[in-house]
Amino acid sequence: MKKLFPVIRSAVVAALLSFTHPALSQTVQERLATCLACHGENGQSNMPLTPSLGAQPAFFLSIQIFMFRDKIRAVPLMNQMTQGISNNDLKALSAAISKLPPPQPPAGTPDAARMDAARTLAEQNRCNICHGSNYAGGENVPRIASQREDYLAKTLREYKANTRRGYDAAMADVLHSVSDEQIGDLAYFLSRLK
Ligand code: HEC
Ligand code: HEC
Repeated sequence: MKKLFPVIRSAVVAALLSFTHPALSQTVQERLATCLACHGENGQSNMPLTPSLGAQPAFFLSIQIFMFRDKIRAVPLMNQMTQGISNNDLKALSAAISKLPPPQPPAGTPDAARMDAARTLAEQNRCNICHGSNYAGGENVPRIASQREDYLAKTLREYKANTRRGYDAAMADVLHSVSDEQIGDLAYFLSRLK
């Protein structure tokens, strides 16, 4: 299974690098409106289990849309949403989405002790090394600060169970030694980061 990752990665990179950045065509704008009906017009999703996409790195978005379209990341809803989308259009959509504002954490004061314990846990697992000290991501690494708590917990469990296929094996490796309870704490912490 692991051997597949380099193959996927080079196929994705080859496809994404071979296209230039086009302007937003009308069809792309129409598609964008559909996407944001679920993901949130202002970059913040209010729908359960649906990720906020504001300020996600454009390259991360392109890779994920590409993997949905080609069913490497199998989620029937998103596989259908991205069906037949051209490489140029997926890059244009990603560029537009990445410019939406970052999501905001939920209102209310977080539990300070739980935040501190989870911050230490995140640093022990080097989450900050790849996702950045403010967890804003970059390139192929997603922003996870202020992502929805329900989505963070769900997707971390899927990486751990190897049911979410990534661009590389980084997340499955990282979560190998993280317990289910710790996933809950990490999701609590990350979703409340500014
Ligand atoms: C009907 C609601 C809906 C629509 C419309 C929709 N999405 Fe999604 N999208 C989702 C859900 C739910 C997920 C989470 C999938 C999962 O559980 O892994 C998702 C996941 C994603 C992700 C992965 C983000 C991440 O952080 O992992 C991207 C990127 C994305 N969608 C982009 C788009 C684009 C681009 C469009 C329009 C072409 C679109 N979506 C339309 C519901 C929707
Ligand atoms: C070696 C680098 C690396 C480390 C360490 C790392 N990540 Fe990641 N993370 C990534 C990459 C790369 C992705 C995108 C993978 C893919 O294509 O699905 C990712 C994806 C994610 C996602 C999915 C977000 C989304 O919107 O789809 C979450 C959540 C996440 N990481 C949380 C964490 C947490 C929590 C830790 C620490 C326990 C961690 N990561 C450690 C590189 C890393």
